[in-house]
Amino acid sequence: MNQRNTRKMLVICVFAVSILTIVAALDNGLALTPPMGWLAWERYRCIVDCETYPNDCVSEQLFRRTADLLVSEGYADVGYEYIIIDDCWLAHERGSDGRLQPDPQRFPSGIKALADYIHSLGLKFGIYEDFGNYTCAGYPGVVGHMKTDAQTFADWEVDYVKLDGCYSEPEDMDTGYPEFGSYLNETGRPMIYSCSWPVYQEFAGIEPNFTALKQYCNLWRNYVDIDDSWEEVEIIMDYFAEKQDSIAEHAGPGHWNDPDMLIIGNYGLSYDQSKVQMAIWAILAAPLLMSTALRDVKPEYKDILQNKAILAINQDELGIQGRRVNNTGLIDIWTRPISPEFDGEYSYAVAFVSRRIDGYPYLKSVTLAEIGLTSACGYEFQDLYSPNTQPQILGPDSVLTVRINPSGVVFYRATIVGAR
Ligand code: GLA
Repeated sequence: MNQRNTRKMLVICVFAVSILTIVAALDNGLALTPPMGWLAWERYRCIVDCETYPNDCVSEQLFRRTADLLVSEGYADVGYEYIIIDDCWLAHERGSDGRLQPDPQRFPSGIKALADYIHSLGLKFGIYEDFGNYTCAGYPGVVGHMKTDAQTFADWEVDYVKLDGCYSEPEDMDTGYPEFGSYLNETGRPMIYSCSWPVYQEFAGIEPNFTALKQYCNLWRNYVDIDDSWEEVEIIMDYFAEKQDSIAEHAGPGHWNDPDMLIIGNYGLSYDQSKVQMAIWAILAAPLLMSTALRDVKPEYKDILQNKAILAINQDELGIQGRRVNNTGLIDIWTRPISPEFDGEYSYAVAFVSRRIDGYPYLKSVTLAEIGLTSACGYEFQDLYSPNTQPQILGPDSVLTVRINPSGVVFYRATIVGAR
């Protein structure tokens, strides 16, 4: 598009009327944008042998150290806030009062002291339990003790509860998860409620009731556990694309689909693949829960995790989950409507993801209209992984040509012209 047309477009567009957005929230008022933080499981699993693995075992030291690093390495400054324990923190038996208790060797100061420490750094604290008889790793579940356990979490000043679903019946989850949620609410302490109910129902062949999920849970795991590989990221991206017509519409402020943790900074993803995970988790309005050894993250991977422009897309106030809009020629194109809006039209995040693993960066060309960017006002395209490149102004009929590295991504913010 030439400069004169661009200017004309701008003149038309600045006089149009912008639409105000009304954001609906869940009752607990939490997670109005996807939660950001750190979750132990993918990286630290169920390492309980602190003698052999003093730096890696699931212990109060691990969570204290990670909380320190979240602050000192700059993650807290860009929005990562929750430090969340996963499985294997519990003692195998409840206390004589029937309450949950942590493993005494690995959490000698108790959970309340750990929560206090994390709070003293200005962070928030999350914990894991299971709706069934046992957690997935075989520690006591909440069955038969739901009310007490919810109160114990509140007494410990927990801010976030992940409730897993091992050792339970998927058909009981439609009532059981809301019941536990109601006990959390009754404590009066606001706690983000992360449910695992859809993934267990998915594998049991039951269609999850997303209307209920939105009402009772702030986020929910939809699909398989992420492991430390590109294949796993691909499987999850494909699931979210293939199911997008039934799941995407249920995401919004206060209630999110959860494709599982960020594995950036670990062993399995290349630099390019790490950029893909970050871009697509931003497009999906996914919770951003890193599971990595924060002290070991190399600077270029840290830059991905702390890319403010990408985090802003993930945290966009409209909370609309993006979709894959094109997947021809082994290049997937994903878009997500974001703010600012103008004249009833959205801005967009646009990601070109190469599924090729051969040779060199291939080209992909599309018109904006082909991928749903139809505003006559046009869009200012900024490459989010190359912030020093000059933005381009493109209209709906303009051809966008992109060169994408093998298993890599080119990721744009396309801000609608006239909105700024
Ligand atoms: C399940 C969950 C994982 C993790 C483990 C812990 O597999 O999906 O995220 O919490 O249990 O045992």
